[in-house]
Amino acid sequence: MKANVERFQALRGVLEQQILGQREVIPSVVDTLLDGELGLTGAGRPKGSFLFLGPTGVGKTELTVAFTRHLFGDEHLVRFDMSEYQNQESVGILLGHSEHETGLVARRLREVGGKGTVLLDEIEKAHPRVLDLLLQMLDAARLTMANGETVDFSECYLVCTSNIAGAAILDVRHSVRATLVRFVEAQAQAALRPEIFARFQVVSVFDRLGYDDQLAIARHLLEREIREQSERTGIEIDYDAGLIAHLTGEGYHPRLGARPMRRCIERFVRQALRERLLKGQTEGICLQPPSLTSAA
Ligand SMILES: Nc1ncnc2c1ncn2[C@@H]1O[C@H](COP(=O)(O)OP(=O)(O)OP(=O)(O)O)[C@@H](O)[C@H]1O
Ligand SMILES: [Mg+2]
Repeated sequence: MKANVERFQALRGVLEQQILGQREVIPSVVDTLLDGELGLTGAGRPKGSFLFLGPTGVGKTELTVAFTRHLFGDEHLVRFDMSEYQNQESVGILLGHSEHETGLVARRLREVGGKGTVLLDEIEKAHPRVLDLLLQMLDAARLTMANGETVDFSECYLVCTSNIAGAAILDVRHSVRATLVRFVEAQAQAALRPEIFARFQVVSVFDRLGYDDQLAIARHLLEREIREQSERTGIEIDYDAGLIAHLTGEGYHPRLGARPMRRCIERFVRQALRERLLKGQTEGICLQPPSLTSAA
């Protein structure tokens, strides 16, 4: 129990360290997760349910992955991309078509021992009958498969993500956050059906990532890539202080969030290592912005 309490105490710090530029979102997510972990949530419901709204590439999935990893381990994330469940036939895939078939939901939940996070991405794309299933999951934490088996979600967190009104978040200027949040929530309510919207315990509107946020994310991503590549190759890797500004300049995209940045950083580090390894060099390396390299 003591180890668990320490893990719960560390949760907020871990998420704040990994998810940057989303300080408005993290506290209510952490409170709900702690209620779930400490057994303060009522029975017959998922341990917590979240609707994450916001533009692309700003940390909605990353936050879900981060809290799942911290609380249960990576392998306890069950992910469904709702753009794959847009027609009526999708219900049969999820629940099974007949009494002889185990539905996909039952199979996936069994793989994680019924415990972890169920992530439904792009929820607005799901077929209305699939959204009916979501309603049952939110309401009763149960789904009955075609073969009669009942899947229990009461040891799970449920996260739905959507880019509904993402463009409005990107385009808004000088607006008070509360006004923007109200607008985005109203759009989501209209797009998702009010009865579904109303059942989420937490609705979080993620902010766009400004230049300074992306600068901080670039540092974080670079250090992570360096750590992972050092472990893989055994090469000690350091970087010049000017490299962060260079990579941010290359990777920053005001509308696509941090995804282009991540790709840019991975490409940069991997190219430097590739060149080294092909020359048979395995001694330490200090990554430099290109201008410094060519001037040297
Ligand atoms: N706020 C953030 N803090 C740290 N890293 C971030 C943040 N936002 C995005 N990233 C980085 O960008 C990548 C893409 O972000 P993520 O998958 O969370 O996007 P998303 O908000 O779920 O977008 P989409 O709506 O397209 O699914 C992450 O894997 C992570 O490396
Ligand atoms: Mg996502």
